[in-house]
Amino acid sequence: MTTEHDLVITVDRDRCVGHGRCFDLHPQLFTSDDLGFSVVKSTLHDQSTRDAALDASLDCPERAISVRDRSTRS
Ligand code: F3S
Repeated sequence: MTTEHDLVITVDRDRCVGHGRCFDLHPQLFTSDDLGFSVVKSTLHDQSTRDAALDASLDCPERAISVRDRSTRS
């Protein structure tokens, strides 16, 4: 079972081109930096955060957002 401490959300800076869908859809979880690229801002990794992160990951055209369990190696 995944606990609130097991989730790792990352934005691949090499892939993000600043579409902004992630922080438009889930401003509680993502924000933009000065150049318009996404930054993960939430440190609360509960179920709603997980759902939002997965949704953002699927919605990003560049597939720049990764959501994984801390125990998962990739
Ligand atoms: Fe970047 Fe994708 Fe968000 S390109 S700004 S991570 S929707």
